[in-house]
Amino acid sequence: MQYNADNAPLQQLEDWDEFVATRYRQGKSEEEFRNYKADANPTVTEFYRQNHAHQTLDFVLSKKAEYCGLNRDKKSIWEMAEYLNTLVDDSDPDTDLTQIEHLLQTAEAIRKDGHPRWFILAGFLHDLGKVLCLYGEPQWAVVGDTFPVGCGYSAQVVFPEFFAANPDSKISDYQTENGIYEVNCGLDKVHLSFGHDEYIYQATRRYLPDEAQYMLRYHSFYAAHRHSAYRHLMSEQDERMFEWVRKFNQYDLYSKGRERPKVQEILPYYQDLVSEFFPDKISW
Ligand SMILES: [Fe+2]
Ligand SMILES: [Fe+2]
Repeated sequence: MQYNADNAPLQQLEDWDEFVATRYRQGKSEEEFRNYKADANPTVTEFYRQNHAHQTLDFVLSKKAEYCGLNRDKKSIWEMAEYLNTLVDDSDPDTDLTQIEHLLQTAEAIRKDGHPRWFILAGFLHDLGKVLCLYGEPQWAVVGDTFPVGCGYSAQVVFPEFFAANPDSKISDYQTENGIYEVNCGLDKVHLSFGHDEYIYQATRRYLPDEAQYMLRYHSFYAAHRHSAYRHLMSEQDERMFEWVRKFNQYDLYSKGRERPKVQEILPYYQDLVSEFFPDKISW
């Protein structure tokens, strides 16, 4: 697919995932963690610069209107996974996993630990929303740590200094602690920066239990699930459910580096699993 350096600074979307995994490498000291900028190469830094500058409340509302009504397509989960697999950027086919392999690797790690079927399924689905890139969305609207828009930015979001270039930072109503929201209103009422999390959540929510919905919707909301930021916007239900988001995150971060999944061998298991929860085609 054709990339334009202006809105695609990353060589591949996984460069962002890899930066996050490095940031939270197991056994890192707090001091090493605070020094995350050392792990960010120039393309990752440029990616965050664009993401923080362009994700405004208006932008998020317009993308939700465009995609979250699910009027675009009717496809099975498998058709969507095959479609996502056509996203080949500058990756090295010998060492880098395909998109489906990453999904299966995450799901397999969850399965090995004996978790429930819906949890394994969430692992398989979690990055399918990256098809937004194939719809022509810029990288900064597909991946990246998510954060609330329409209220003050937390210093716990990576590269907070880049928010100065966001037009919302000049709108005082959007810069109070609660902004346009009410205290403890619950995250369902809060607009997060737009990306692959929200899209896969919207497409699959009616087929999945609450815990899995939370895993999909908030897996990139590191400021909240890793650093306990934005508690003032969360409800008690959010607090409870974030335990599951944290449980899920371990598998998303650390499934890389495990062995390449034997796709043909495990496929029948996943075909069964998907048909248990989903009808043949769903709306996208
Ligand atoms: Fe993701
Ligand atoms: Fe992932």
